[in-house]
Amino acid sequence: MYDYRNPIVLNPAAPEGALDAKLPPADDGLDVVDPARYYSKEFMQKEWTHLWPRVWILVGVTPDIKEPGDYLVHEHGHESFLVVRQDDNSIKAFYNVCPHRANQIALNSQGSVDKFTCAYHGWQFGKDGKLKCITDEQTFHPSLIAHRPGLTELRCDTIGGLIFVNMDGKAPPLKEWIGLPPGYIENYEIEQMNVVHHVNTEWLANWKTGVDAFYETYHLPHIHPQTQGVMEDFSQIDSYPNGFTRMIVPICTKSHRMEDASVNPGLQYMMMEAGMDPASYTGDADGVRVAVQQAKRARAARLGMTHYDKFTDGQLTDSWATGFFPNVQIGMHPEGVFIMRFVPHATDPERYYYDNMIMFRHVDDPNYFVPGWMGLPKDTDVTGATRPAAKRYTAGNLCDLGEVLNQDVELVANVQNGSKSRGFRGPLWSVQEGRLRHYHRELDRYLNGEK
Ligand code: FES
Ligand SMILES: [Fe+2]
Repeated sequence: MYDYRNPIVLNPAAPEGALDAKLPPADDGLDVVDPARYYSKEFMQKEWTHLWPRVWILVGVTPDIKEPGDYLVHEHGHESFLVVRQDDNSIKAFYNVCPHRANQIALNSQGSVDKFTCAYHGWQFGKDGKLKCITDEQTFHPSLIAHRPGLTELRCDTIGGLIFVNMDGKAPPLKEWIGLPPGYIENYEIEQMNVVHHVNTEWLANWKTGVDAFYETYHLPHIHPQTQGVMEDFSQIDSYPNGFTRMIVPICTKSHRMEDASVNPGLQYMMMEAGMDPASYTGDADGVRVAVQQAKRARAARLGMTHYDKFTDGQLTDSWATGFFPNVQIGMHPEGVFIMRFVPHATDPERYYYDNMIMFRHVDDPNYFVPGWMGLPKDTDVTGATRPAAKRYTAGNLCDLGEVLNQDVELVANVQNGSKSRGFRGPLWSVQEGRLRHYHRELDRYLNGEK
């Protein structure tokens, strides 16, 4: 039985060290944290002093900047990062701010340039951030500009198609800092995927209230009961070093809470997506997950998708929801990834931006479908030929994120309000919520000077 001493293990046969093996539980204690972390300006300030400058921040993905001169911009609180593909194919990152009088250099979230020109007074900078030209240079005292002020570069590195920056330059190397084992990210070949959907919405909550709500499946039967037919809410939870976590959510299976063992329409749809004919399936609901895994293996062999060889059977159906400390979760699937960034607001601890990029690996086959779980609008171009601009919505503006996310928007704002109540004494996290405990514990290490 699943209780606090017996965690869920989805594949007991996984050998120690395998990517799907259950890790020994992390010792994160039983502290009940002070809820002020969800609303206090002082706590927010502490994060700006002790957390954000010191961690690696996910700023984008390499398929968004394929050619020299391609750039992307990522806003994080009051900071804005400009990430540029160089002539030698390397990637550099700069603070998106003009050294003259602090105007933002790139005003679009994406583009392609030969050089950057500041819109305020026309100073120009190369792709490499070096100063190219100062307008009316003779009107500056030479000593003021003797250092040839260029864009301020910051540390940038990539892993498996994901681009990160580190502001203070002192974080351990990215590959060491990422607590996940080698291959975990790389096997998905995110660099072969395209961003096919990008929405950035403002939510009325602290960024951690947002992370918390996406880091567990304990709430699924209550907030998202419609998922029960195709998803198990008892997930396998693993805590990795450096605040990283993952949750394996079994999909293509009904929740154990559902008594109806028939192959419901949701499961039938998932079989169809995997290239099966649901009408010829003779098993029960519990057999669908394995049948879909086998169908996907067969299809991958037929289509020559050799990277499937790197995945366990479970990875072919389940969501490997992976927590990148501190503010990212990526739902990882062989077909595509669902990237969620919980981005702090510049001034208000009770707002954050939910930034959602959906990436898909295009397969040129008429019988290959985009999985329904991606929730893509009908007219989405999934071929990668066009990269949709990020749709941005501020709080209170009508924005339909799809049924499940709409339910979360409402929930998270309620929880944010509740966290300030005199009647609330701090979150009581169960084993099912072990990922929350793990990343909050790591956050505290940063803020307390233990890191
Ligand atoms: S602020 Fe950029 S040129 Fe003046
Ligand atoms: Fe949710």
